[in-house]
Amino acid sequence: MIPKLVRLSRNAPKDRHKAWDTYWAGITATGPGGEVLWDSGSDHEFLGYKDSLQRYLDPALPVVDTGCGHGGFTRELAGIFPKVIGVDVSRHAIARARAESAGSSAAFEARDMTAEGAGAALAQAIGAGEDGANVFIRGVLHVLDPGHQTALVENLWHLAGLRGTVFMAETNFQGNPVEYVSHLGATTRGIPAPLELAIRGLPMPGHFGPEERERAFPASAWELLEDGHVAIETNPATGVPGQDRVPGYYAVVRPLR
Ligand SMILES: C[S@@+](CC[C@H](N)C(=O)[O-])C[C@H]1O[C@@H](n2cnc3c(N)ncnc32)[C@H](O)[C@@H]1O
Repeated sequence: MIPKLVRLSRNAPKDRHKAWDTYWAGITATGPGGEVLWDSGSDHEFLGYKDSLQRYLDPALPVVDTGCGHGGFTRELAGIFPKVIGVDVSRHAIARARAESAGSSAAFEARDMTAEGAGAALAQAIGAGEDGANVFIRGVLHVLDPGHQTALVENLWHLAGLRGTVFMAETNFQGNPVEYVSHLGATTRGIPAPLELAIRGLPMPGHFGPEERERAFPASAWELLEDGHVAIETNPATGVPGQDRVPGYYAVVRPLR
C-alpha cells in the first residue's frame, strides 16, 4: 500500500494554506454521504461535548470555532451559544460554511489563525474586548506542524483575554500512516473516496494528545480544567463499524492571568 499512498500524495500542494483552499474548492457535498473525511454527518460527537462546553464556557462571551471548515460544528455551537463565529484559513471553506448556514446565527470569516497578531485582531473585530472570547477547536492542531501550533496557541491566548476558555478535540491515533489509513478503511484493493481525497490534497496529519497539549499549552501560561479520551467521528464511508471513529483527545484550558 505504501507506493500507492506515496503516488496519491505526491501532487498535494506543498504550501499548506493553498492545500487547504484547493481541497475545499473541490468539495461538492458535505453531511451524510458527503466527501469530507472528518464529517460524520451527525451531531453525536458534538452532543458528547455539550456538557463540558456548558460547564466551562461563559455564554456571555463570543465563541470562535477556529479552523471551522464547512461550519458543521459552528452551527451546532450556535444552537447553544448566542454569538458564534467560525474562522478558517480557506476562503472556499468559509464560502461553503456561509452557504450551508442559512437560518443559523453563526457568522464566518476567512483568517489564518497562525499569522502574527491574528488573535488580537480577531478579538477586536468581533468586539471581544478585554474579557476575550471562548474558543472551540476540533481537528486543527493535529494538522499543524509544531511551529504553527505554537503560533496558533499564541493567538488563542490573546483571543481568550481575561475570561475566555479554550475547548479542543483532536485525533490522537498512535500508529504509522499505513496503520492510520488502514484504520479508516484503506486496503490494497481500494481506498474510501473521502479518505482518498484527503490523501491526494492535504498534508499528512500528525496526532495530538496529552504530551502535545502540554507542549503547546504550557502549564506556565495555561490552566488545565479537564481532559480525557474521546472518539473523533469521521465519514462512515465504508459502513464497517469502528472505521468511522478515530481515537482522540479533548481538553479544556484557560490562560493563566
Ligand atoms: C480537519 S479540518 C477540521 C474542520 C472543522 N474544525 C471540523 O471539525 O469539521 C481542519 C481545518 O483547519 C483549517 N485550517 C488549517 N490551517 C489553518 C490556519 N492556519 N488558520 C485557520 N484555519 C486553518 C483547514 O482549512 C480545515 O478547514
